[in-house]
Amino acid sequence: MDVKLTINGEEKSASVPPETTLLRLLREEFNLTGAKIGCDVGDCGACTVIVDGIATNSCLMLAGQVQGRSIETIEGLANMDDYHPLQKNFEDLGSLQCGFCGPGIILSAKQLLDDNPDPNKEEIQDALAGNLCRCTGYTKIVEAVADAAREMRGNREAA
Ligand code: FES
Ligand code: FES
Repeated sequence: MDVKLTINGEEKSASVPPETTLLRLLREEFNLTGAKIGCDVGDCGACTVIVDGIATNSCLMLAGQVQGRSIETIEGLANMDDYHPLQKNFEDLGSLQCGFCGPGIILSAKQLLDDNPDPNKEEIQDALAGNLCRCTGYTKIVEAVADAAREMRGNREAA
């Protein structure tokens, strides 16, 4: 089947077997390997991307379901010279260890901050509930999201 979609603001197309998941489409057709293959059954959140503004497990979505839709991946968030505040605060706090869960967690957090610029701790924990991390205790992850939210609010007020 032919799929046309927008990824990180660019129109893309591919011809793939109908059973292809969005995760495989991103990784194998477009070489966007930031979304990770963890459990591949919707349990871990390592494959999270943002689909039309909603953080989504890309292993559970078929390529045909994203026809004409807009996808945001970790590769679209920043370049090496200009980190997104979430990326910067995760790095500053040393929130991650192996980093495998990081792209999914950061994209879940981004959707939260897009919808709610001033979340409390419980709201951050709820937003990240579908993202498992095998290395950390989550404390510095939650702190980094709160710090990024504060920084982004400050940036908006200064603008
Ligand atoms: Fe998709 Fe685990 S790889 S939820
Ligand atoms: Fe290793 Fe989260 S830092 S899985």
